[in-house]
Amino acid sequence: MPCESATRGEEGATRDARVLVVDDSQGVRSYLAELLEKDGWSVDTAESGRCALHLLDAGANPDLVLLGLSSEGRKTLAALRRLHADVPVVVMSVEADAGTIVEVMRLGASDYLTKPFDEGALAGILARLFERRRGDRPNAPPAEATDGPIVWRGAAMQRIRAMIDQVSDTDVTVLIQGESGVGKEIVARRVHDRSRRTAKPFVKVNCAALPSDLLESELFGYETGAFTGANARKLGRFERADKGTIFLDEIGEMSPKLQAKLLQVLQDGEFTRLGGNREVRVDVRVVCATNRALKEMVAAGEFREDLYFRLNVIAIDIPPLRERRDEILPLVETFLQRYSTKYGKAWKPISPELSSAFEGHGFPGNVRELENLVKRLVILQSENLVFADLGVLTGTSSGSYRLMQVIKSVEESAGEISLREVARKVSLEAERDAIDRVLRRTGWNRKQAAKFLNVSYKTLLQKIRECGLQPDA
Ligand SMILES: Nc1ncnc2c1ncn2[C@@H]1O[C@H](COP(=O)(O)OP(=O)(O)OP(=O)(O)O)[C@@H](O)[C@H]1O
Ligand SMILES: [Mg+2]
Repeated sequence: MPCESATRGEEGATRDARVLVVDDSQGVRSYLAELLEKDGWSVDTAESGRCALHLLDAGANPDLVLLGLSSEGRKTLAALRRLHADVPVVVMSVEADAGTIVEVMRLGASDYLTKPFDEGALAGILARLFERRRGDRPNAPPAEATDGPIVWRGAAMQRIRAMIDQVSDTDVTVLIQGESGVGKEIVARRVHDRSRRTAKPFVKVNCAALPSDLLESELFGYETGAFTGANARKLGRFERADKGTIFLDEIGEMSPKLQAKLLQVLQDGEFTRLGGNREVRVDVRVVCATNRALKEMVAAGEFREDLYFRLNVIAIDIPPLRERRDEILPLVETFLQRYSTKYGKAWKPISPELSSAFEGHGFPGNVRELENLVKRLVILQSENLVFADLGVLTGTSSGSYRLMQVIKSVEESAGEISLREVARKVSLEAERDAIDRVLRRTGWNRKQAAKFLNVSYKTLLQKIRECGLQPDA
């Protein structure tokens, strides 16, 4: 079926921002288009995921996608995440159950709206996402200072912040390295925010998101007729970042050909647009990031050594979260507040058990993983599900976790306490664990539990009191 896509609202637009509305209902599309246009947005519409992807391939460049969660909506969301990773997608659905919301957020949606929705809620979400993305746009007003909700608690992050503050006012190139989700983008934005370039654009380019040729035209732009379909001159991101900062994310994924071109731009401060012959001069500060060990890539011949030295003037290595555990709880608190406010849920502190589970977790996905867990906790209001996510609870009670903790702390204090004390502590905790499990299994039927444990009813009641056990709320 041909696509009935529509572009509307250019004239009335007051925001220099586009929204792509994807929904199979003509009524929903027109309603949203009208609502958004009234609010100053330019709007494209598409009746299916296929048509939306078609529009994007044809060069539509929305700041946001509003996606109706029809039967194919999940597939569309996955494709959008894969092919257009940097465009935020807000999902709209009549399904309001927590399971769907979590599933959709896991697929990579930036936010979720339940239909029929409150117009204010939609406006709020769009404004916030657009605010966040504004940094990617040309001539953007300064990105928000990143200090407020950012946690710089531990010694390593404080050193990094001090280093940023020292170098941000120079124009040296900064190379940020760290595992996925450690906060590389946050650091990059701070380098920009603290520099004299702060009122100029911060332009982010994900070098892994585009095939090499497209990335080249995205970075350096093209002249009319440079290739089939180049109907008008397009400015590249380097030009759009003039006087500001360009953030080259995932720099390790750049092809050898582009590495050579980038090196030349860094050396000369000029380049030519594709299909052009005039040199374009730009004044741009380059910040790059990678989660791959660039040095090893150089050794393996996968990354140019001369470019590496050029980029690596100031190196900022962000340690993984498991190496800065003192930041885990402050981060939890920050995210609890952020998402309780966002989802309109009452804020309540987490239990000591969950705190120590967080502190003991390895966090292979770093801060992003922690953030997602807290988001899930706020939405589902269930600590047990988070325990399960952390791999702590698989089919057992949280008691086993406490037991593990006791054993761990005993191991840590080896040599400081007597063997008898060790045995006492571990057996007390093991007892507590066993009672807790049996009580859960019997649904807190104390008589039955006493039988199971082969103790008198009275003894069991006493143990329950001593161990401070309570039925789950
Ligand atoms: N110190 C921090 N304080 C508050 N939030 C943080 C902090 N560090 C990271 N985050 C949050 O964690 C998430 C991941 O951070 P960011 O995108 O900067 O990581 P990244 O290293 O660029 O990840 P990737 O390699 O996956 O691109 C973001 O939502 C960010 O807001
Ligand atoms: Mg990143």
